Amino acid sequence: MFTKKSVTGVIGSGAMGSGIAQVAATAGHKVIVYDNSESALQKAENNLKSSLTKLVEKQKITRDQQTQVLMNIRFVSTLQQLSECDLIIEAIVENLDVKKTVFKELEKIVKETCVLASNTSSLSITSIAAACEKPGRVIGIHFFNPPTLMPLVEIIPGVASLENITTSSKALIDSWGKVTVRVKDTPGFIVNRVARPFYSEALRIYEEGIADIPTIDWAMKEIGGFKMGPFELMDMIGHDVNYIVTETVWKQFYYDPKFKPALSQKRLLEAGLLGKKSGKGFYDYTPGSQTPEATKNKELGQQIFTRILVMLINEAADTLYLKVASAEDIDLAMTKGVNYPKSLLKWADELGIENVIKQLTALKDFYEEDRYRISPLLKQNFILKKAFY
Ligand code: NAI
Repeated sequence: MFTKKSVTGVIGSGAMGSGIAQVAATAGHKVIVYDNSESALQKAENNLKSSLTKLVEKQKITRDQQTQVLMNIRFVSTLQQLSECDLIIEAIVENLDVKKTVFKELEKIVKETCVLASNTSSLSITSIAAACEKPGRVIGIHFFNPPTLMPLVEIIPGVASLENITTSSKALIDSWGKVTVRVKDTPGFIVNRVARPFYSEALRIYEEGIADIPTIDWAMKEIGGFKMGPFELMDMIGHDVNYIVTETVWKQFYYDPKFKPALSQKRLLEAGLLGKKSGKGFYDYTPGSQTPEATKNKELGQQIFTRILVMLINEAADTLYLKVASAEDIDLAMTKGVNYPKSLLKWADELGIENVIKQLTALKDFYEEDRYRISPLLKQNFILKKAFY
């Protein structure tokens, strides 16, 4: 359905839209970028130029390629100028009503065959599509930040999305050199759902006083092999983003206690201590400040790491159990989308289902909270002595 000649439209020239435009243009497509803010368009154009110049300096691309990418992208200031597009990816403000209005307007302008995609990270694709006369052509194409560097893209058909739209969109994004996974239209899709315990279980361990922040981060890096600890990562993402994602996922799951946000993180948000970008979050980033030392106690570290890991495995298993995505796609998403050192379901096999169940049962028995309920799939695999792979 799509060819090299397919014209890609991008709405919203912010962090995500401008990156997506660069990826599509680098793959050889003509790209038209629209934003309703002139200054945002100007900023995106300037950023694109300087980002390409840096790539030339680092010899990642040639001068000819730089010229070609720049020639491929056009910045426009009216929605009507997107009329020739074959695919349009929307990356505007995360607000359902605003997105619905834009999709409705778009339908009046574009060709019958144009595919309309949203880069939303937390809204339902089905609800966006419901604003359209032809919801079958609406799909989720969810890039990660920054789109030029992160290989993963989640492809999310809504309830009404046509199968050929899903398969051709997936094939197109694959041809852009990305790793695509297919996900059911459910809160958090794969990554923003399965990764929740990485933050929330770490926060719980901290709130209970089992270990301090540097020790939890140390355990996850040194013993778990994760690139960053949960608190370092939350500070880097920013609590305005990370907390809101947690809260949104929790609300959309009808307040399932598995996804309940942590008050200690909410308080940071309320205080404007957003993390690295504001100079302070769980850690202090002001020049001259000292990072407290971790208690490098191996036994404690192992306990922390195991607790967080089994909670991650539990969520990955539940995501598979509820047919949100395939085992391969869940594992790909977590290794390519958030750089986990290993595939979670393979990790479960390595630890042994019996061991995973034992750890989760201990948490469930001790806390007597629904938060620690064990995925039926883990129980099934345990009874059948079955591995994930
Ligand atoms: P951003 O705030 O950097 O950029 C949004 C752009 O959209 C702005 O330039 C704004 O002027 C423009 N805009 C707003 N309303 C508009 C309208 N009605 N018509 C045309 N342009 C409009 O936002 P960002 O971070 O790029 O996010 C965009 C979308 O991507 C959101 O849906 C977000 O949830 C999603 N997303 C964001 C990620 C991130 O890490 N920032 C990661 C993955 C998805």
